[in-house]
Amino acid sequence: MTLPARPVVTVTRRLPASVEAALTERFEVRLNRGDTPLGPPGLREALATSDAVLCTVSDRLDEEVLRVEPLRASLLANFGVGFEHIDLAAARARGIAVTNTPGVLTEDTADLAIALMLMVLRRLGEGERELRAGAWRGWHPMHHLGRRLSGKTLGIVGMGRIGRAVARRAVHGFGMRLLYASRTELPPGEAAALDAVHVELDRVFAESDVVSLHVPSSGETRHLANARRLQLMPPHGILINTARGGVVDETALAEALRSGTIAGAGLDVYAEEPRVHPGLLALQNVVLLPHLGSATVESRTAMGMRAFENLVAWSEGRELPDRVG
Ligand code: 8YV
Repeated sequence: MTLPARPVVTVTRRLPASVEAALTERFEVRLNRGDTPLGPPGLREALATSDAVLCTVSDRLDEEVLRVEPLRASLLANFGVGFEHIDLAAARARGIAVTNTPGVLTEDTADLAIALMLMVLRRLGEGERELRAGAWRGWHPMHHLGRRLSGKTLGIVGMGRIGRAVARRAVHGFGMRLLYASRTELPPGEAAALDAVHVELDRVFAESDVVSLHVPSSGETRHLANARRLQLMPPHGILINTARGGVVDETALAEALRSGTIAGAGLDVYAEEPRVHPGLLALQNVVLLPHLGSATVESRTAMGMRAFENLVAWSEGRELPDRVG
């Protein structure tokens, strides 16, 4: 692969100014000043006319898009840790490397998971809606009672970087008891420090007050939170999802929330973003956020710089620091 001295990089969405400046200094950059998603035709054009594409979760790089002829791009530098929107097999077949941005958004995403737990248990969204609607009639002892987070049992599904960051907050900040299901068990020292008990997935659902999902989206994790597992949860239980929408069967969740099978849910991600399941939108006991897990200046800048570092390594023919495909 021979690249021009200043390789052409298409950046599919607007990024923090400092990131766009770093990219512009080093590469022949095509920025998306209007920030409109490129869609399949725009993505095909980017692949055909740039050496690399800096893409995001809002770009569906499926087999059909990656089949473009002629193909010029040899790198997809994804801005984000999750990359299920990229068909890795199709990229490999076309000789396109794929990188992501792990590590830099861990703390902010964990903070958001805890925020959702508090929002759901303390019914904060409902309270704010009541006040803004002019329906607040003043303080009284039985007004708007929620449930306590501190001291409850948290069940974590997926003990990767973000799962562990949530676990630390829950245990050290809120004195929670910790159960978890994960492909790989925590190293003994870390498990002991968190007093974390590794159990089967079904037990996490059956024995936790709060279940928080932190697995990547894949065929294996699709609809992991399904009707049967939601039935296992106690009626006061709540489900938190900051991972990916496909991990939850949204129809089953809406029904479980409507019928009182579980008490509440806090969601930051959806199966068909930006569409939200109408059954969820109709309910008060679910907090619905618009995919804000890593939405801080700090994380988004670090994510951009991490993608930039991968682009620089690629342009210099070095090993890619965050290669996932
Ligand atoms: C990103 C995320 O904002 O990194 C991820 O996997 O879900 C978000 O934090 C988004 O994916 C950017 O592409």
